Amino acid sequence: MKNDIKEIIFTEEMIQKRVAELGAELTKDYEGKSPVLIGILKGCFMFLADLSRKIDLDCEIRFLTASSYGFSSVSSGKVNIDKEIDFDVRDKDVIIVEDILDSGITLTALRALVAKHKPSSLKICTMLDKPERRQLPIVPEYTGFICPNEFVVGYGLDYGEKYRNLPFVASLKPEVYS
Ligand code: IMP
Ligand code: MG
Repeated sequence: MKNDIKEIIFTEEMIQKRVAELGAELTKDYEGKSPVLIGILKGCFMFLADLSRKIDLDCEIRFLTASSYGFSSVSSGKVNIDKEIDFDVRDKDVIIVEDILDSGITLTALRALVAKHKPSSLKICTMLDKPERRQLPIVPEYTGFICPNEFVVGYGLDYGEKYRNLPFVASLKPEVYS
């Protein structure tokens, strides 16, 4: 697995430091509230696990499943949301937790889905953002890092379901795709 890596872009130390900062920021911003964190599977699993442990508040943790990539490094442009919301978000403070914001297609669809259920507030927290790739105008309220315009894996992000368990974020050698 490590032989497939071209370059480490965000090291484990950088990620852990930034996640702690984000957790502290959310703890402060949501003081006195009990936010609902909605993780978007599968990519969010590691970020949400670490982030939630840095949030010193009562919170609910929920999940939705979305996929647009399939077995590819290029977005299909079509979003599959595999699960309707079967939990209560009405009048709650919702934070959608995502691994990476790319074209914005997935989060635009998910945000609209959650908004239909009338939360009292709705914000987005993404670990990585690739603003250059945006096709729909969506701006996250909380961002871990701005990511270069390159396909990346690790810390939850996959290529063909592999590499999710890397503790850092890295690019892959071109031959991995061929
Ligand atoms: P969007 O709908 O184009 O914004 O795509 C967002 C989703 O595509 C993310 O939740 C990821 O699952 C996936 N994705 C986007 N960029 C990458 C990447 O560089 N590596 C791995 N997955 C990615
Ligand atoms: Mg994802």
